[in-house]
Amino acid sequence: MVYKPYCEDNELDSVIMKYGLTTSYTTEIIFDDFVLSQQPSNTFYIIDDYFKPLLEKKIHQINEVYWFNATESNKTNITAQDILDQLFKVNLKRNDVIIAIGGGITLDIAAFCASIYKRGCKLVFVPTTIIGMIDASVGGKTGINYNNVKNQIGTFYPADKVIIDINFLKTLPDNEIKNGYTELIKMMIISERDFFKRDPDYIINNLSLYIQKAISYKLDICTYDLTDIGIRRTLNLGHTLAHLFETISDYRISHGDAVAMGLRLDLKLSLNKGFISFENYNNILSYLRHFCNNISLTHEELEQIKLHGKDIISADKKNNEDIVYVLINNETVEFNNFESIDELINETLLIATYT
Ligand code: GLY
Repeated sequence: MVYKPYCEDNELDSVIMKYGLTTSYTTEIIFDDFVLSQQPSNTFYIIDDYFKPLLEKKIHQINEVYWFNATESNKTNITAQDILDQLFKVNLKRNDVIIAIGGGITLDIAAFCASIYKRGCKLVFVPTTIIGMIDASVGGKTGINYNNVKNQIGTFYPADKVIIDINFLKTLPDNEIKNGYTELIKMMIISERDFFKRDPDYIINNLSLYIQKAISYKLDICTYDLTDIGIRRTLNLGHTLAHLFETISDYRISHGDAVAMGLRLDLKLSLNKGFISFENYNNILSYLRHFCNNISLTHEELEQIKLHGKDIISADKKNNEDIVYVLINNETVEFNNFESIDELINETLLIATYT
């Protein structure tokens, strides 16, 4: 099956957008034009080292670069300190710019450093994954992990500019593309149910359209609720359990696979609670089966959830004891109050064991 987006080699299928409260798109500027137009003296790059072979010759020697080994276990205060040391060493000024190139992990840590360095310097994102494009680069969340729990330290700091060059997706391994479709499916469950009436090939062949739709939707949500106290929390669909699965598996399970598992369980919880019809349940499930890996938890991981699940979910900054949880209905999503984290864990274990 072909997961790569359809894109002719010479097609300038790029989007540049600015946001804050306004958004503008153009298809005229591509990544190369932008990179080559930067002045070396005021630019510091933080780049996923996966792109070293592709970008080293273009960027190295003229600009300062921090090549980042982009894993969850490297998204820490230690790495952030290392990046800050480099920024001070090259004496980056507040008006200078950090350009982050990579997926969500790279963007999160680069943005965190940009937000605290001298109380904030300029920030440009060049997301290279679907998750980076439709999620991490929109809405200003920055973060690093602490004690193995995701994004425990962070700020809200929207980038000054985001350059989306769809061509980057052609450089990715299939598994990373699949991770991205999971996040896209999540956004479409919330915002556009007609998505699930389309043939999967139509989605693949029109990926840049759906990426733009997902970005626009998230921008709208974040304009209402940048600091995540209300409607933005609907974007957490599938993620409470996903963060639990990532942590419990010590990141053996990738973010995309964990979200796919989280969505499947949330779908089942929604069916069990009568929020969603069997027909709609099946439609969404068939998309998750088509686009996402079906991962299961090992016996040991299920035991770990029994022992530590409550502590991990409590440590998630979004959760209080009466956990506000997002479930799926026939049109979009809605909040559901689980009485306790124990209730959520018990239901999850029951479904995870028998699905
Ligand atoms: N990733 C969910 C959010 O940005 O709110």
